[in-house]
Amino acid sequence: MILPVYVLNGPNLNLLGVREPEVYGRATLAGIEEAVVARAKSHGLGVVFRQSNHEGVLVDWIHEARVKGSGVIVNPGAYSHTSIAIYDAFKALDKPIVEVHLSNPHQREAFRHRDYVSQVAKGVIVGLGATGYLLAVDAMAELVGAGASKGTK
Ligand code: DQA
Repeated sequence: MILPVYVLNGPNLNLLGVREPEVYGRATLAGIEEAVVARAKSHGLGVVFRQSNHEGVLVDWIHEARVKGSGVIVNPGAYSHTSIAIYDAFKALDKPIVEVHLSNPHQREAFRHRDYVSQVAKGVIVGLGATGYLLAVDAMAELVGAGASKGTK
């Protein structure tokens, strides 16, 4: 039995759907959660899906995933560009990390071009909106050797 995949979302992502929809799209976080859970289920994977606006809470959840998760899909929001604490927590994870951004930070302000989490992530998916989360689930299924993804490549 493979441990669940943690899907962690950082600050302001609770406002998806109403926050700058021209940048982040119209999908809500609840809608993304539903789609992620269904996609993971198709791979035989469980999901722990969470969002916090607080850096330390995200650090605590990364520590929890060290013990209780098989890997972490993360959209760290603005903490991607600022948080050495989250970077350090991921360095200690020792499990696959797939980072997702709805927008493409490389096309945006210069302060979004530095991303600490990308330096420890196995892969990074940017600019594809909510679809990026589903692609991350597919990638994670392969990384953790989940049932339905075996032998598909
Ligand atoms: C984001 C990109 C970040 O730069 C920004 O701070 C966010 C959302 C994204 O999903 O595109 O909050 O992570």
